[in-house]
Amino acid sequence: MGAPSSKKSLFLFITCMMYFYVIMTSQKHLFYLAPLRGITDIIFRTSFEKYFGQFDFLMPPFITTVKGEKVALYHIKDISSGENDRKRVIPQIIGNDPEDMLKLASCMHDLGYHTVNWNLGCPFTPVTRKKRGSGLLPYPELIKSILDKLIPALPCSFSVKVRLGLDEKHELSKVIPVLNDYPLSEVIIHPRTGSQEYSGTVDLDSFELYTAQCRHTVVYNGDIFTADDFKRLSERFPGINRWMLGRGVVKYPFLLEALRSGKTQTEFSKLRLFHDDLYAGAKETLSGPSHILGRMKGLWLYMAGSMPEGQKLLKKIQKTKSLSAYERLIDSVLKQIS
Ligand SMILES: Cc1cc2nc3c(=O)[nH]c(=O)nc-3n(C[C@H](O)[C@H](O)[C@H](O)COP(=O)(O)O)c2cc1C
Repeated sequence: MGAPSSKKSLFLFITCMMYFYVIMTSQKHLFYLAPLRGITDIIFRTSFEKYFGQFDFLMPPFITTVKGEKVALYHIKDISSGENDRKRVIPQIIGNDPEDMLKLASCMHDLGYHTVNWNLGCPFTPVTRKKRGSGLLPYPELIKSILDKLIPALPCSFSVKVRLGLDEKHELSKVIPVLNDYPLSEVIIHPRTGSQEYSGTVDLDSFELYTAQCRHTVVYNGDIFTADDFKRLSERFPGINRWMLGRGVVKYPFLLEALRSGKTQTEFSKLRLFHDDLYAGAKETLSGPSHILGRMKGLWLYMAGSMPEGQKLLKKIQKTKSLSAYERLIDSVLKQIS
């Protein structure tokens, strides 16, 4: 009698393990749109989702904290319209004064947002010099004192987006234990230092190390440009199911769908519709031709990479000086390929 029952238990055990394996390996991947200041504004976010599918979450470019009693409406223009889906959009703040941060985060919460993100990653010297963005990473004590004041007063959830450090990749090793002491909803890690800006490669060993130390849900961010990049990363980090896409998805807007379904396709006609929609949005909301042209040139800096002879095209676009010249050039290029 003993043998069949132990066989049964073994069978049950193996079945349970198989179920567990299937659940672990089939976990749903969640995709976030990264904040790219000057590019992924509300015009981009709306036009993108019309043609290339919905992100699970979208993080608009950072909004700086301000002094004074009230946050002016123009300051939060990018996140105040109803086109921002309150369930999926996570606004981001940059700053280091807990009172100002609380004021801005509360204003975002009043607009209907459930989570606010803190930028601890911006690499640009005018920002880091003021101990903002990645400029705060060498100062874990300062981060702690900010969180001590801010977290108990916040009306909403809070997450952070970090790099490995400002100048040294080990700086994050002192920041993670600080972050572990607070109830954060997630930590987004871009595995480069601030002083690297976007040069070199992402440091996956450091990402692995800090992910293991972090008690919060971790989102991976950095250098996902192709379905192969994603495959490699998701195989190396089977415990991660949240992925933030930045330059890759601007360069090749079909990337989101390619990662979800495995299909790689480039329907240039869709690119045309997307471009025209975004251009119309830019003309409607920005004042003056130079702002509109600047906005479109910023987009092409990345998007030209997915076009035939992209570098040549980019040079031509950068040279255009009027909206009519820009329109003529884009019209002829997009007509040829769509
Ligand atoms: C033009 C540009 C603007 C950016 N603006 C922001 C920003 O407002 N907030 C932020 O946290 N990161 C910002 N980043 C960093 C990106 O969100 C992201 O971390 C970085 O590009 C790495 O991801 P990727 O390799 O997928 O692009 C910016 C990056 C670029 C290139």
